[in-house]
Amino acid sequence: MTNIAIDGPAGAGKSTIAKKVSKELSFIYVDTGAMYRAMALYLHRNGIPADDAEKIAAACGGAEISIEYRDGEQVVLLGGENVNPYLRTSEVSAMASKSSAVPQVRTRLVQLQQELAAAQNVVMDGRDIGTVVLPNAQVKIYLTASVEVRARRRFLEMQEKGENADFDRIAADIAERDHRDMTREVSPLRQADDAVLVDTSDMTIDQVTQRILEIVRDRTGLN
Ligand code: DC
Repeated sequence: MTNIAIDGPAGAGKSTIAKKVSKELSFIYVDTGAMYRAMALYLHRNGIPADDAEKIAAACGGAEISIEYRDGEQVVLLGGENVNPYLRTSEVSAMASKSSAVPQVRTRLVQLQQELAAAQNVVMDGRDIGTVVLPNAQVKIYLTASVEVRARRRFLEMQEKGENADFDRIAADIAERDHRDMTREVSPLRQADDAVLVDTSDMTIDQVTQRILEIVRDRTGLN
């Protein structure tokens, strides 16, 4: 199987890019953040406090998370229910950021991710894909952009949706999330030694996609 790992901080454009690259290559796209979000939804629904790592560790074993593909889209199932519509709320984001630091949560989801990658060609994005989940991936990309640029992208996205957006607040949230992702004890976000760094601050989505496809062709000989 050919495995492509894309890691990087929140808002670097990983999912947009990973989707495009996977389509070009006819690979399956695996969004691991959505799995951490589904776990967070499960914990939230069960009234587990986000700050209680012990309760999270004890409860996470009860979550039945699986992945299906419907019309080429990844659908995350929680106990058989399609929970995609509930994964992007601020409660779930906040819970995911905390619960993803709990080792028991990671062990379960990493296993599921490794099974998916062993069974098919995948483009998988997350924080620890190149370092922990798929250390032998043929291609590893570390996608990043400045806090300023990521905050601007998010700001414009929210404005477009007619949501209330405060640029300074968004930038502060991103910086805080980076800090938490990079300094947590288990599987912190970091660039794998053999990953190619792609800074998207001054690149368009198409330019980033083409750059990654070039790297994939170089490393794998795929077309
Ligand atoms: O990429 P995202 O925002 O959907 O990720 C949701 C949360 O899960 C975020 O707090 C980071 C965490 N995460 C992780 O710890 N490891 C991954 N492989 C993917 C996401």
